[in-house]
Amino acid sequence: MEKPTARRHPLKNVRAFRTTLLTWFKDNAQNYPWRETTDPWAILVSEIMLQQTTVAAVIANRRFEKFLEQFPDIQSIATASESEILRAWEGLGYYNRVRNLQRCAQAIIKDFDHHFPSEAGQLITLPGIGKYTAGAVSSFAFNKAAPIVDANIARVISRLFQITMAIDSNAGQKIIWAKAEQLLEKKSPRSFNSALMELGQKICSARLPSCHRCPVKDFCQCHDPEALPTKKPRKAFELITEHALLSLQNEKILLSQGTDTRRKGLWKLPLRSVEECAHLTPLLTRQYQITHHKVTLHLYRHEVKEIQERESYHPFSKLQELPIATPIRKILNDLTL
Ligand code: ADE
Repeated sequence: MEKPTARRHPLKNVRAFRTTLLTWFKDNAQNYPWRETTDPWAILVSEIMLQQTTVAAVIANRRFEKFLEQFPDIQSIATASESEILRAWEGLGYYNRVRNLQRCAQAIIKDFDHHFPSEAGQLITLPGIGKYTAGAVSSFAFNKAAPIVDANIARVISRLFQITMAIDSNAGQKIIWAKAEQLLEKKSPRSFNSALMELGQKICSARLPSCHRCPVKDFCQCHDPEALPTKKPRKAFELITEHALLSLQNEKILLSQGTDTRRKGLWKLPLRSVEECAHLTPLLTRQYQITHHKVTLHLYRHEVKEIQERESYHPFSKLQELPIATPIRKILNDLTL
């Protein structure tokens, strides 16, 4: 789709650009639950939750509201057990996010005397908080003039300025952040950042962008929106096969607690080597995807003779309370124990 050459440059006409975008946003802003609060803890929770989980999934399952009902403030999460926080995050994946939320709360209590920092430069010192999240909390909660760049904003900026450099490269990121800073409306950064993000979500979408409906199309330097942004080549998927055992005793099931960094503390089915399972016939086989792994899991019904470190039996009736990796939860639900 060829577009006509732009008449105005977004930075040479930056005041007109800002006003046009903000006027559009006033009439088109979505009522997300995290837009109804300026509580920095709630904003931080929403931003961490939305990092790897879609808006649709967070909204549909009321995950944001439910999490805040359980942990309404930094005090409540700071003292919670690992099992409680993992259970509250179950199904959202990337469990280090909730561990970092807890560590942030603890750091604010200890290092900032319970006062939530408002400057991006302070927020970035907290565990798991990068440049985007620091800017998001600073602008959305405190209305401070901090720029933000997420995937939506990176796409908008790369098209607006016809930036062909990969947006996930260091050089590309540097250019895009500099443009975000120059564009930012310093009097209403909360609305301005939300507006840029919403433009990316609603109009300047990755596939089939709606240029004819775009409020800032007169400022756009892009020749072919579907060709932008560009990204570095993707890492290939790694194929993994797992051999898991279903070992049952007196209404109890053998589970194993994960030790790998991402899913540490989550319960899974006990795994054994392919050799140990060679004489068994799978009860079921499932495929699931986790980060850049494609896993084929074979499950065998087999009483384990010697349980290994980090393995223990759990009553069927207590499984709802345990944090369990989502693909394994699905299998357990299907087995209707
Ligand atoms: N995705 C990440 N943060 C968001 C926000 N604050 N509003 C809408 N979508 C988002």
